[in-house]
Amino acid sequence: MADETPAAAKLNTLVPHPARIYDYWLGGKDNFEADRRVAEAVKIASPGVVQGVRDNRAFLGRAVRFLAEQGITQFLDIGTGIPTQNNTHEVAQAVNPAARVVYVDNDPIVMVHARALLRGTPEGRTAYVEADLRDPDAVLTHPDTLATLDFDRPIAVVIVGTLMFIKDEDDPFGIVKRYTDAVVPGSYLAVTHVTGDFARDSLEAFAEAYNTGPVPLTLRTGAEISRFFDGFELVEPGMAALSEWRTDPDEVPFLADRVHGGYGAVGRKL
Ligand SMILES: C[S@@+](CC[C@H](N)C(=O)[O-])C[C@H]1O[C@@H](n2cnc3c(N)ncnc32)[C@H](O)[C@@H]1O
Repeated sequence: MADETPAAAKLNTLVPHPARIYDYWLGGKDNFEADRRVAEAVKIASPGVVQGVRDNRAFLGRAVRFLAEQGITQFLDIGTGIPTQNNTHEVAQAVNPAARVVYVDNDPIVMVHARALLRGTPEGRTAYVEADLRDPDAVLTHPDTLATLDFDRPIAVVIVGTLMFIKDEDDPFGIVKRYTDAVVPGSYLAVTHVTGDFARDSLEAFAEAYNTGPVPLTLRTGAEISRFFDGFELVEPGMAALSEWRTDPDEVPFLADRVHGGYGAVGRKL
């Protein structure tokens, strides 16, 4: 049975939550003392984290714009986060006002902001589904998903900055496959994921500090992350450090001392 508890009543602000910790690092206001405590502890352990989350958010914008420019008009954005600048529907609808987006998240605070996510172009369409991504059936068969996306046409599955919250024992590869099996060839998958491949000590310190909170985070290697793209052909430049994936020429230039903390990639379903 659907949970009809109002979103605001489900908020427990005493428990840190990934969406709010991320919001704090991005300079947002939708975070609470418990989130800020974890966020600050992680910053001390791994000072590159703020640059890393900005790199992640910038990747999301470039990837969605790239996909819209490829003619993709439908997006399933899983692990939406709290609305900020350059939300998926804004970037996609700037390229094609008719673009449609279904957002999925399990943090009730995102639900509180759903109105902001649902305000798209008149030609396009956006929907917000509150669900746990580990339950692909709940997402894929949700009436709002089915009313917004046409699964007979290509869809971009966008899971950015989120899969590190899915533990190995929950089978992240099997979960992603359920989503990618549901879309037709010519669809796309966009993923970012934290990794210790570039800066092991800093990222291990990051994970250790983060994991004092209730949602543990798993670092994965590039080889592991590439498994999400089984059956997909990666677009150029393949899997890359976040700030090096199709970077705009006018973006902040590469900093020599930048700590790469994540990979990003986009693939096309064969
Ligand atoms: C770091 S934010 C990323 C937001 C956005 N995709 C971006 O990259 O800017 C991760 C998001 O994943 C969501 N999330 C984590 N675990 C989830 C789960 N099991 N089901 C649905 N959403 C989840 C969190 O609530 C949070 O909003």
